[in-house]
Amino acid sequence: MPMIRETIVTTADTDGRVHIAPLGLIAEDDGWIIAPFHPSATLDNLRAVPFAVANHTDDVRVFAGCLTGRRDWPTLACSGPVPRLADALSHSELAVTHVTEDEQRPRFHCRVVAIATHRPFAGFNRAQAAVVEAAILVSRLHMLPREQVEREIAHLEVIVGKTAGPAERQAWDWLVEKIRA
Ligand SMILES: Cc1cc2nc3c(=O)[nH]c(=O)nc-3n(C[C@H](O)[C@H](O)[C@H](O)COP(=O)(O)O)c2cc1C
Repeated sequence: MPMIRETIVTTADTDGRVHIAPLGLIAEDDGWIIAPFHPSATLDNLRAVPFAVANHTDDVRVFAGCLTGRRDWPTLACSGPVPRLADALSHSELAVTHVTEDEQRPRFHCRVVAIATHRPFAGFNRAQAAVVEAAILVSRLHMLPREQVEREIAHLEVIVGKTAGPAERQAWDWLVEKIRA
């Protein structure tokens, strides 16, 4: 299995409107594959404007926010047509080279056009990893049995309780609120 890196992907439509979504990028040689399930604004944007930015951030509120209706995060212009997250630690600008078509989940093969670092990586934090896992659970609520969600959330909650800072706690609360609803 190839390595998957969980990122915040920014894309844009032909009017320049930015869309922000968490996606797992699949490693392929020197590039990355973006694989959005139908229907998806990311997918529509990649067809219209075949560029994306992979944003690497330690602010897990962006992951939790995008899944709970909080998609409005500050962005900054890049050299290409798609902006990046203003708060990203680093980002990679991607250009789509070709598409492997699939009815459910087309794969957009991308090459890396530019990489930039903005702030230092401050080290691993278990609560951040727990929030990313919980965000993935929230994105699959419609497919997963309720008891599996409850079991995994209970496990992750212990980690958040022990290791979260204020941003991780807020992100966690947004996700739990959505699960409870
Ligand atoms: C860490 C993480 C990784 C995800 N990876 C994918 C992915 O590879 N493909 C996908 O379709 N959705 C993925 N999702 C779910 C999408 O973020 C979510 O469905 C999103 O709304 C995509 O739809 P959009 O492009 O319309 O925003 C992921 C969610 C999380 C939290």
